[in-house]
Amino acid sequence: MINRRIVLQSRPVGVPEQGNFRMEEAPIPDLADGEVLLENHVYAIDPAVRGMLDDVKSYMPPVAIGGLIPAMVLGRVVKSRNPDFREGDYGRGFVGWETHSVITPGNVGFENVTVAQDLPLTAYMGACGWSGITAYVGLKRYGEMRSGDEVLVSAAAGAVGSVAGQVARLSGCRVIGTVGSADKARIVTDVLGFDGAIDYRACEDLDAEIARHFPDGIDLYFDNVGGVTLDTVLPRMKAFGRIPVCGMVANYNHQTDPYRLRNIWQVLVNRITMRGFLAYEAADMVHEAEEALADWVRSGELIATENVATGLEATPDAFIRLMSGETSGKTLVRIDENVSTLADWKPHAVA
Ligand SMILES: NC(=O)c1ccc[n+]([C@@H]2O[C@H](COP(=O)([O-])OP(=O)(O)OC[C@H]3O[C@@H](n4cnc5c(N)ncnc54)[C@H](OP(=O)(O)O)[C@@H]3O)[C@@H](O)[C@H]2O)c1
Repeated sequence: MINRRIVLQSRPVGVPEQGNFRMEEAPIPDLADGEVLLENHVYAIDPAVRGMLDDVKSYMPPVAIGGLIPAMVLGRVVKSRNPDFREGDYGRGFVGWETHSVITPGNVGFENVTVAQDLPLTAYMGACGWSGITAYVGLKRYGEMRSGDEVLVSAAAGAVGSVAGQVARLSGCRVIGTVGSADKARIVTDVLGFDGAIDYRACEDLDAEIARHFPDGIDLYFDNVGGVTLDTVLPRMKAFGRIPVCGMVANYNHQTDPYRLRNIWQVLVNRITMRGFLAYEAADMVHEAEEALADWVRSGELIATENVATGLEATPDAFIRLMSGETSGKTLVRIDENVSTLADWKPHAVA
């Protein structure tokens, strides 16, 4: 058996390009105790991976030149030396852009995933997987969300933001999303049921737009982007407002020269609790989140949006589109189009 995978050919400058990646073949190693071999069906394309392609300090080590590009994968178990995984089970773990992965208990997100018959595999990598879990724990634990909160979510049409806004709505909050196009604004309001959207690229005065939507201020800002949006939001927070910092994608394509916040003083003025978090560190909440998200998706209360590319070869392009801000919903790659999706599943597919 041969593994096909994509490795880093050169470090991107700005938005990644095809030439930054190279496809190669590698033998599949023998398994050690505790390890599980997956035939991958779907993997996730995540903006945080852009940060790992630069040789800078972060919460994950940088990818070496020639190294596998990291990704959360979901695959069928074809071999196991772990008593908790049997052939035919589905395993998930943070490994990489490849057709076969060896997962070990040391991998982030190492899990035997119980795949329900009425949800497709792709849902376990988006709204019911780590994007949804991130939204759920970010709001509930790190954002201390309460019913009645006035909530702003950035990158609201994206994988995490689209779920965060819907979970906030389902929890009794009023929620507005910031997005980068008129199409995304329509998705957020007309499909996902947000109370409003701000197209930050089209509006002339972002501060005035935020003030118009939040005349009394913001209780909770779920921050996916950092940059100028965060800077503009800080003075508009209510006293004792909360900002769970999920990500700062606006900086990822130029991490060595990030946007410099001018309004950070407002953290003190408004006594804001601003807290960065990594979803997988809220391990005790993962099952609660998975159950709640799957129930909401099943009942139709939460719409899972996704854009799915097919084939290993399509991966760099999917990543480039993600890092160009072109995508909506969860960006995924399925290895082949026969990945099991059930006939009655109708995800809201978006470009
Ligand atoms: N803390 C955690 O555990 C955790 C876990 C997963 C993800 N995250 C973070 O959550 C955030 C959202 O991730 P996601 O997977 O849901 O991605 P996503 O929102 O599906 O895609 C990224 C979106 O970010 C927006 N964006 C803003 N500035 C951008 C820029 N300069 N370049 C490219 N895109 C830009 C774009 O939307 P617009 O067109 O609307 O601007 C783009 O579509 C990221 O910051 C990610 O690192 C954190």
